[in-house]
Amino acid sequence: IIQQIDSSATSLQGYESFMMKEIRESWGAVRDTIVGLMNDMEKLGKAVKAMDKARRILVVAAGTSYHAGLIFASRLMRTGKTVIPVIASEYENVKAGGEDVVLVISQSGETMDSLLAMKSFKNSGSFVVSLTNTLGNSISYYSDIALHTRAGPEIGVAATKTFTSQVGALLLISSLMIGENLDYLKEAESTVSSSFSKSIGYAEKIGVDVSKKQSLYYLGKGLGVPMAMEGALKIKEIAYIHAEAYPAGESKHGPIALVEKDFPVIFVNTGEHVDELRNNLKEMQSRKARVYVVSAGSELRSDQEVTEIMIDINDARLAPLALAPPLQLIAYYAAKERGLNPDRPRNLAKTVTVR
Ligand code: AGP
Repeated sequence: IIQQIDSSATSLQGYESFMMKEIRESWGAVRDTIVGLMNDMEKLGKAVKAMDKARRILVVAAGTSYHAGLIFASRLMRTGKTVIPVIASEYENVKAGGEDVVLVISQSGETMDSLLAMKSFKNSGSFVVSLTNTLGNSISYYSDIALHTRAGPEIGVAATKTFTSQVGALLLISSLMIGENLDYLKEAESTVSSSFSKSIGYAEKIGVDVSKKQSLYYLGKGLGVPMAMEGALKIKEIAYIHAEAYPAGESKHGPIALVEKDFPVIFVNTGEHVDELRNNLKEMQSRKARVYVVSAGSELRSDQEVTEIMIDINDARLAPLALAPPLQLIAYYAAKERGLNPDRPRNLAKTVTVR
Protein backbone atom coordinates (compact mmCIF):
# COMPACT_ATOMS: atom_id res chain seq x y z
CA ILE A 1 0.00 0.00 0.00
CA ILE A 2 1.29 3.41 -0.84
CA GLN A 3 -0.05 6.13 1.36
CA GLN A 4 1.06 9.58 0.41
CA ILE A 5 1.14 11.98 3.30
CA ASP A 6 1.95 15.52 2.32
CA SER A 7 1.82 18.65 4.42
CA SER A 8 -1.70 19.48 3.18
CA ALA A 9 -3.03 16.71 5.45
CA THR A 10 -1.40 18.03 8.59
CA SER A 11 -1.77 21.81 8.14
CA LEU A 12 -4.96 23.85 8.32
CA GLN A 13 -4.72 25.09 4.72
CA GLY A 14 -6.81 28.17 5.52
CA TYR A 15 -9.52 26.34 7.50
CA GLU A 16 -10.31 27.50 11.00
CA SER A 17 -10.26 23.97 12.38
CA PHE A 18 -9.11 20.52 11.40
CA MET A 19 -12.57 19.19 12.16
CA MET A 20 -14.19 21.32 9.45
CA LYS A 21 -11.34 20.60 7.04
CA GLU A 22 -11.65 16.87 7.68
CA ILE A 23 -15.45 16.81 7.31
CA ARG A 24 -14.86 18.44 3.92
CA GLU A 25 -12.37 15.70 3.06
CA SER A 26 -14.95 12.97 3.84
CA TRP A 27 -16.23 12.31 0.34
CA GLY A 28 -12.74 11.95 -1.12
CA ALA A 29 -11.85 9.68 1.78
CA VAL A 30 -14.85 7.45 1.11
CA ARG A 31 -14.01 7.26 -2.61
CA ASP A 32 -10.35 6.44 -1.94
CA THR A 33 -11.31 3.84 0.64
CA ILE A 34 -13.72 1.98 -1.63
CA VAL A 35 -11.39 2.14 -4.63
CA GLY A 36 -8.42 1.11 -2.50
CA LEU A 37 -10.18 -1.94 -1.10
CA MET A 38 -11.45 -3.00 -4.52
CA ASN A 39 -7.96 -2.67 -5.98
CA ASP A 40 -6.92 -5.60 -3.82
CA MET A 41 -9.85 -7.92 -4.43
CA GLU A 42 -7.75 -10.95 -3.59
CA LYS A 43 -7.20 -9.80 -0.02
CA LEU A 44 -10.73 -8.44 0.35
CA GLY A 45 -12.12 -11.70 -1.03
CA LYS A 46 -10.17 -13.71 1.56
CA ALA A 47 -11.57 -11.56 4.36
CA VAL A 48 -15.11 -11.92 3.01
CA LYS A 49 -14.73 -15.67 2.63
CA ALA A 50 -13.43 -16.05 6.17
CA MET A 51 -16.36 -14.06 7.56
CA ASP A 52 -18.85 -15.93 5.34
CA LYS A 53 -17.70 -19.28 6.68
CA ALA A 54 -17.54 -18.18 10.31
CA ARG A 55 -19.95 -19.55 12.89
CA ARG A 56 -20.19 -16.03 14.32
CA ILE A 57 -18.56 -12.69 13.52
CA LEU A 58 -17.45 -10.67 16.51
CA VAL A 59 -17.20 -6.97 15.65
CA VAL A 60 -14.76 -5.41 18.10
CA ALA A 61 -14.16 -1.65 18.38
CA ALA A 62 -14.40 1.43 20.61
CA GLY A 63 -16.18 4.79 20.33
CA THR A 64 -16.94 5.98 16.83
CA SER A 65 -15.39 2.87 15.28
CA TYR A 66 -17.86 0.80 17.32
CA HIS A 67 -20.75 2.76 15.82
CA ALA A 68 -19.47 2.04 12.31
CA GLY A 69 -19.26 -1.62 13.38
CA LEU A 70 -22.90 -1.58 14.50
CA ILE A 71 -23.97 -0.58 10.98
CA PHE A 72 -22.08 -3.56 9.57
CA ALA A 73 -23.52 -5.86 12.24
CA SER A 74 -27.12 -4.75 11.64
CA ARG A 75 -26.86 -5.20 7.89
CA LEU A 76 -25.64 -8.77 8.29
CA MET A 77 -27.91 -9.73 11.19
CA ARG A 78 -30.84 -8.82 8.96
CA THR A 79 -29.76 -11.61 6.62
CA GLY A 80 -29.68 -14.15 9.45
CA LYS A 81 -25.93 -14.08 10.05
CA THR A 82 -24.84 -14.24 13.66
CA VAL A 83 -22.87 -11.10 14.44
CA ILE A 84 -21.95 -10.00 17.93
CA PRO A 85 -20.91 -6.37 18.38
CA VAL A 86 -18.37 -6.21 21.20
CA ILE A 87 -17.33 -2.96 22.89
CA ALA A 88 -13.57 -3.50 23.04
CA SER A 89 -13.20 -2.74 26.76
CA GLU A 90 -15.90 -5.37 27.52
CA TYR A 91 -14.37 -8.24 25.57
CA GLU A 92 -14.18 -10.47 28.65
CA ASN A 93 -17.96 -10.92 28.39
CA VAL A 94 -17.68 -12.92 25.18
CA LYS A 95 -16.09 -16.33 24.74
CA ALA A 96 -14.82 -16.87 21.21
CA GLY A 97 -13.28 -19.92 19.55
CA GLY A 98 -11.74 -21.25 16.37
CA GLU A 99 -15.00 -21.15 14.41
CA ASP A 100 -15.44 -17.44 15.02
CA VAL A 101 -13.98 -14.55 13.04
CA VAL A 102 -13.17 -11.26 14.72
CA LEU A 103 -13.45 -8.03 12.76
CA VAL A 104 -11.59 -5.34 14.68
CA ILE A 105 -12.18 -1.76 13.57
CA SER A 106 -9.89 1.07 14.67
CA GLN A 107 -8.93 4.33 13.01
CA SER A 108 -5.56 4.51 14.75
CA GLY A 109 -4.89 0.79 15.01
CA GLU A 110 -3.39 1.53 18.42
CA THR A 111 -6.39 1.72 20.77
CA MET A 112 -5.35 -0.39 23.76
CA ASP A 113 -8.85 -1.76 24.47
CA SER A 114 -9.23 -2.96 20.88
CA LEU A 115 -5.71 -4.35 20.74
CA LEU A 116 -6.12 -6.34 23.98
CA ALA A 117 -9.52 -7.63 22.88
CA MET A 118 -8.21 -8.83 19.52
CA LYS A 119 -5.17 -10.49 21.11
CA SER A 120 -7.39 -12.30 23.57
CA PHE A 121 -9.74 -13.55 20.83
CA LYS A 122 -6.77 -14.54 18.69
CA ASN A 123 -5.34 -16.53 21.61
CA SER A 124 -8.67 -18.37 21.77
CA GLY A 125 -8.13 -19.46 18.17
CA SER A 126 -10.28 -16.91 16.31
CA PHE A 127 -9.21 -15.62 12.91
CA VAL A 128 -8.80 -11.83 12.95
CA VAL A 129 -9.57 -9.33 10.19
CA SER A 130 -8.71 -5.71 10.92
CA LEU A 131 -9.85 -2.43 9.39
CA THR A 132 -7.56 0.46 10.31
CA ASN A 133 -6.60 3.81 8.82
CA THR A 134 -2.85 3.97 9.38
CA LEU A 135 0.03 1.90 8.12
CA GLY A 136 2.22 -0.27 10.31
CA ASN A 137 -0.07 -0.06 13.33
CA SER A 138 -0.20 -2.72 16.07
CA ILE A 139 -3.70 -3.99 15.31
CA SER A 140 -2.96 -4.63 11.64
CA TYR A 141 0.35 -6.24 12.65
CA TYR A 142 -1.38 -8.82 14.88
CA SER A 143 -4.31 -9.50 12.54
CA ASP A 144 -4.52 -12.33 10.00
CA ILE A 145 -5.85 -10.03 7.27
CA ALA A 146 -5.23 -6.29 7.49
CA LEU A 147 -7.65 -4.10 5.53
CA HIS A 148 -7.38 -0.33 5.43
CA THR A 149 -9.54 2.71 5.05
CA ARG A 150 -7.80 5.48 3.12
CA ALA A 151 -8.93 8.64 4.83
CA GLY A 152 -5.41 9.99 5.29
CA PRO A 153 -4.23 11.51 8.58
CA GLU A 154 -6.97 12.81 10.85
CA ILE A 155 -5.72 15.53 13.18
CA GLY A 156 -8.95 16.56 14.93
CA VAL A 157 -9.65 14.44 18.00
CA ALA A 158 -13.20 13.87 16.79
CA ALA A 159 -13.39 11.10 14.21
CA THR A 160 -15.16 12.50 11.14
CA LYS A 161 -13.77 11.51 7.72
CA THR A 162 -12.45 8.28 9.21
CA PHE A 163 -15.95 7.32 10.42
CA THR A 164 -17.47 8.04 7.00
CA SER A 165 -14.74 5.97 5.32
CA GLN A 166 -15.26 3.11 7.77
CA VAL A 167 -18.97 3.17 6.87
CA GLY A 168 -18.07 3.14 3.16
CA ALA A 169 -15.69 0.21 3.67
CA LEU A 170 -18.19 -1.72 5.75
CA LEU A 171 -21.00 -1.17 3.22
CA LEU A 172 -18.71 -2.64 0.58
CA ILE A 173 -17.67 -5.62 2.72
CA SER A 174 -21.22 -6.38 3.87
CA SER A 175 -22.55 -6.06 0.31
CA LEU A 176 -19.96 -8.59 -0.88
CA MET A 177 -21.01 -10.95 1.90
CA ILE A 178 -24.72 -10.53 1.14
CA GLY A 179 -24.06 -10.94 -2.60
CA GLU A 180 -25.47 -7.53 -3.50
CA ASN A 181 -24.75 -5.64 -6.70
CA LEU A 182 -22.11 -3.04 -5.88
CA ASP A 183 -23.28 -0.41 -8.37
CA TYR A 184 -24.91 1.70 -5.67
CA LEU A 185 -21.47 2.40 -4.19
CA LYS A 186 -20.56 4.42 -7.29
CA GLU A 187 -22.67 7.12 -5.67
CA ALA A 188 -20.96 6.94 -2.27
CA GLU A 189 -18.73 9.95 -2.93
CA SER A 190 -21.47 12.18 -4.40
CA THR A 191 -23.88 11.17 -1.62
CA VAL A 192 -21.48 12.47 1.04
CA SER A 193 -20.52 15.64 -0.85
CA SER A 194 -24.08 16.61 -1.74
CA SER A 195 -25.19 15.85 1.81
CA PHE A 196 -22.53 18.25 3.09
CA SER A 197 -23.64 21.07 0.75
CA LYS A 198 -27.32 20.50 1.43
CA SER A 199 -27.02 20.25 5.20
CA ILE A 200 -24.41 22.81 6.25
CA GLY A 201 -26.82 25.75 6.58
CA TYR A 202 -29.50 23.81 8.48
CA ALA A 203 -26.90 22.05 10.62
CA GLU A 204 -25.51 25.42 11.69
CA LYS A 205 -28.99 26.55 12.72
CA ILE A 206 -29.64 23.35 14.71
CA GLY A 207 -26.14 23.44 16.25
CA VAL A 208 -26.60 27.05 17.38
CA ASP A 209 -30.08 26.24 18.79
CA VAL A 210 -28.97 23.22 20.80
CA SER A 211 -25.78 24.93 21.99
CA LYS A 212 -27.93 26.74 24.56
CA LYS A 213 -29.22 23.49 26.03
CA GLN A 214 -27.79 21.26 28.74
CA SER A 215 -29.12 18.00 27.41
CA LEU A 216 -30.72 16.40 24.35
CA TYR A 217 -31.84 13.13 22.82
CA TYR A 218 -30.97 11.59 19.49
CA LEU A 219 -33.62 9.07 18.43
CA GLY A 220 -33.39 6.72 15.46
CA LYS A 221 -34.70 3.48 14.05
CA GLY A 222 -32.84 0.66 12.29
CA LEU A 223 -29.49 1.91 11.06
CA GLY A 224 -30.55 5.30 12.42
CA VAL A 225 -29.76 3.98 15.90
CA PRO A 226 -25.97 3.70 15.46
CA MET A 227 -26.06 7.02 13.58
CA ALA A 228 -27.93 8.57 16.52
CA MET A 229 -25.31 7.11 18.87
CA GLU A 230 -22.59 8.70 16.77
CA GLY A 231 -24.37 12.07 16.72
CA ALA A 232 -24.71 11.96 20.50
CA LEU A 233 -21.07 10.97 21.03
CA LYS A 234 -19.87 13.81 18.79
CA ILE A 235 -21.85 16.54 20.54
CA LYS A 236 -20.77 15.29 23.99
CA GLU A 237 -17.17 15.07 22.89
CA ILE A 238 -16.70 18.49 21.34
CA ALA A 239 -19.59 20.68 22.58
CA TYR A 240 -19.85 19.23 26.12
CA ILE A 241 -23.62 18.90 25.86
CA HIS A 242 -25.14 15.88 27.54
CA ALA A 243 -26.73 13.73 24.85
CA GLU A 244 -28.21 10.27 24.82
CA ALA A 245 -29.17 8.12 21.87
CA TYR A 246 -32.03 5.63 21.90
CA PRO A 247 -34.00 3.56 19.48
CA ALA A 248 -37.00 5.89 19.01
CA GLY A 249 -39.45 3.17 20.03
CA GLU A 250 -37.55 2.65 23.26
CA SER A 251 -37.98 6.29 24.26
CA LYS A 252 -41.47 5.58 25.56
CA HIS A 253 -40.08 3.02 28.01
CA GLY A 254 -38.52 5.59 30.32
CA PRO A 255 -36.53 8.36 28.58
CA ILE A 256 -39.68 10.29 27.64
CA ALA A 257 -40.14 11.16 31.32
CA LEU A 258 -37.44 13.81 30.91
CA VAL A 259 -39.12 15.47 27.96
CA GLU A 260 -40.79 18.80 28.72
CA LYS A 261 -41.35 22.07 26.89
CA ASP A 262 -38.42 22.90 24.57
CA PHE A 263 -36.39 19.77 25.43
CA PRO A 264 -34.38 19.18 22.23
CA VAL A 265 -34.85 15.90 20.38
CA ILE A 266 -33.04 15.15 17.12
CA PHE A 267 -34.61 12.36 15.07
CA VAL A 268 -32.26 10.44 12.79
CA ASN A 269 -34.27 9.04 9.90
CA THR A 270 -32.81 6.54 7.43
CA GLY A 271 -36.08 6.31 5.51
CA GLU A 272 -36.95 2.91 7.03
CA HIS A 273 -40.16 2.43 9.04
CA VAL A 274 -41.00 6.11 8.62
CA ASP A 275 -44.58 5.78 9.90
CA GLU A 276 -43.46 4.35 13.24
CA LEU A 277 -40.79 6.99 13.59
CA ARG A 278 -43.35 9.71 12.81
CA ASN A 279 -45.52 8.39 15.64
CA ASN A 280 -42.55 8.69 17.98
CA LEU A 281 -42.00 12.23 16.72
CA LYS A 282 -45.63 13.12 17.46
CA GLU A 283 -45.26 11.70 20.99
CA MET A 284 -42.36 14.09 21.52
CA GLN A 285 -44.28 17.01 20.03
CA SER A 286 -47.23 16.35 22.28
CA ARG A 287 -44.82 16.85 25.22
CA LYS A 288 -43.82 20.15 23.57
CA ALA A 289 -40.29 18.95 22.82
CA ARG A 290 -38.20 21.03 20.40
CA VAL A 291 -37.96 18.53 17.54
CA TYR A 292 -35.36 18.47 14.76
CA VAL A 293 -35.02 15.84 12.04
CA VAL A 294 -32.08 14.65 9.97
CA SER A 295 -33.45 12.51 7.13
CA ALA A 296 -32.04 10.53 4.24
CA GLY A 297 -34.34 9.12 1.59
CA SER A 298 -37.77 10.18 2.77
CA GLU A 299 -39.20 13.05 4.74
CA LEU A 300 -40.39 12.59 8.28
CA ARG A 301 -41.86 15.82 9.54
CA SER A 302 -45.57 16.27 9.76
CA ASP A 303 -45.67 20.07 10.07
CA GLN A 304 -43.69 23.23 9.42
CA GLU A 305 -42.79 23.63 13.11
CA VAL A 306 -40.09 21.01 12.70
CA THR A 307 -36.67 21.82 11.21
CA GLU A 308 -35.78 18.93 8.92
CA ILE A 309 -32.57 18.36 7.00
CA MET A 310 -33.67 16.23 4.06
CA ILE A 311 -30.97 14.50 2.02
CA ASP A 312 -32.05 12.78 -1.19
CA ILE A 313 -30.41 9.44 -1.93
CA ASN A 314 -30.75 7.10 -4.86
CA ASP A 315 -30.38 3.92 -2.85
CA ALA A 316 -31.55 3.27 0.72
CA ARG A 317 -28.23 1.62 1.58
CA LEU A 318 -26.49 4.99 1.20
CA ALA A 319 -28.44 6.48 4.12
CA PRO A 320 -25.66 6.18 6.76
CA LEU A 321 -23.24 7.96 4.42
CA ALA A 322 -25.77 10.74 3.82
CA LEU A 323 -26.45 11.18 7.54
CA ALA A 324 -22.82 11.45 8.66
CA PRO A 325 -22.10 15.07 7.50
CA PRO A 326 -25.16 16.74 9.10
CA LEU A 327 -24.66 14.94 12.43
CA GLN A 328 -20.99 15.95 12.51
CA LEU A 329 -21.80 19.52 11.48
CA ILE A 330 -24.46 19.94 14.18
CA ALA A 331 -21.85 19.06 16.82
CA TYR A 332 -19.29 21.31 15.15
CA TYR A 333 -21.55 24.38 15.15
CA ALA A 334 -22.73 23.71 18.71
CA ALA A 335 -19.07 23.68 19.83
CA LYS A 336 -18.28 26.79 17.84
CA GLU A 337 -21.27 28.68 19.25
CA ARG A 338 -20.06 27.75 22.74
CA GLY A 339 -16.63 29.19 21.96
CA LEU A 340 -14.94 25.78 22.12
CA ASN A 341 -12.09 24.53 19.96
CA PRO A 342 -13.54 21.41 18.26
CA ASP A 343 -10.07 20.03 17.55
CA ARG A 344 -8.99 19.80 21.16
CA PRO A 345 -11.76 18.59 23.43
CA ARG A 346 -10.81 18.45 27.10
CA ASN A 347 -9.87 15.14 28.74
CA LEU A 348 -9.45 13.36 25.41
CA ALA A 349 -6.54 12.18 23.31
CA LYS A 350 -6.73 11.18 19.67
CA THR A 351 -5.58 7.67 20.48
CA VAL A 352 -6.34 6.05 23.80
CA THR A 353 -3.41 3.79 24.60
CA VAL A 354 -4.33 2.98 28.19
CA ARG A 355 -6.88 0.55 29.56
C1 AGP B 1 -14.34 9.67 18.19
O1 AGP B 1 -14.73 10.96 17.87
C2 AGP B 1 -13.50 9.50 19.37
N1 AGP B 1 -12.37 10.35 19.35
C3 AGP B 1 -13.29 8.10 19.88
O2 AGP B 1 -14.55 7.58 20.24
C4 AGP B 1 -12.58 7.07 18.98
O3 AGP B 1 -13.39 6.73 17.91
C5 AGP B 1 -12.19 5.84 19.82
O4 AGP B 1 -11.30 6.20 20.82
C6 AGP B 1 -11.65 4.71 18.98
O5 AGP B 1 -10.47 5.08 18.33
P1 AGP B 1 -9.87 4.18 17.17
O6 AGP B 1 -10.84 4.18 16.07
O7 AGP B 1 -8.57 4.86 16.83
O8 AGP B 1 -9.66 2.82 17.76
